[in-house]
Amino acid sequence: MKSIAKTNLNGKKIVLGITGSIAVYKACEIVRLLMKQNAEVIVVMTKSAKEFVAPLTFKTLTGNTVITEMFNAEAPVPHIKLGEWADFVIVAPSTANIVGKMASGIADDILSTFLLSVKAPVLVAPAMNQNMLSNPAYIRNVKILKQDGVCFIDAEEGYLACGYEGVGRLASPEKIIDEVNNIIRGLVKQK
Ligand SMILES: Cc1cc2nc3c(=O)[nH]c(=O)nc-3n(C[C@H](O)[C@H](O)[C@H](O)COP(=O)(O)O)c2cc1C
Repeated sequence: MKSIAKTNLNGKKIVLGITGSIAVYKACEIVRLLMKQNAEVIVVMTKSAKEFVAPLTFKTLTGNTVITEMFNAEAPVPHIKLGEWADFVIVAPSTANIVGKMASGIADDILSTFLLSVKAPVLVAPAMNQNMLSNPAYIRNVKILKQDGVCFIDAEEGYLACGYEGVGRLASPEKIIDEVNNIIRGLVKQK
């Protein structure tokens, strides 16, 4: 049985950014594991992510409104409020597109604008076809973000939903949660 290392997530305010990958369904398990460890979770979804799983699923799992809009959200400036609220940010699954936008400082929807405003640590979990993953533009963007202090958890090798076999599969939800705990543990030690 897969085990999750000791948790630091009790009471932590986590924003989960979900982007338009076939792996969106795995974000349900990420939320479930976070909730199990008593984290408070707010989900932000891109327009593309909503093509894969309805926001209602995440609203039900988290008990919180899912943020999908910049301009008709309940808060007048949702990206700033959320940026102040978050203790930790996970982007999973992360598309090549959001990585490119983050690396360039583009803020053209609620998730990318929030990511530009947030000061909390950010963990990106990419999922994409291996041809996208090995594209020089994507590799360059990852390098830029790592230099900026953004954490990554590598995509894994295996069967990809697009029909290919190779690297690009989202890291398992358990590994992602372990990594969040490791990063938070490291931050606590540094203080
Ligand atoms: C069925 C399908 C699956 C997709 N899966 C991925 C994926 O796993 N990773 C990725 O980077 N893009 C994937 N895309 C492309 C993205 O959805 C597209 O680049 C989109 O603009 C991303 O928008 P977002 O980053 O705002 O969510 C997929 C598209 C389709 C139609």
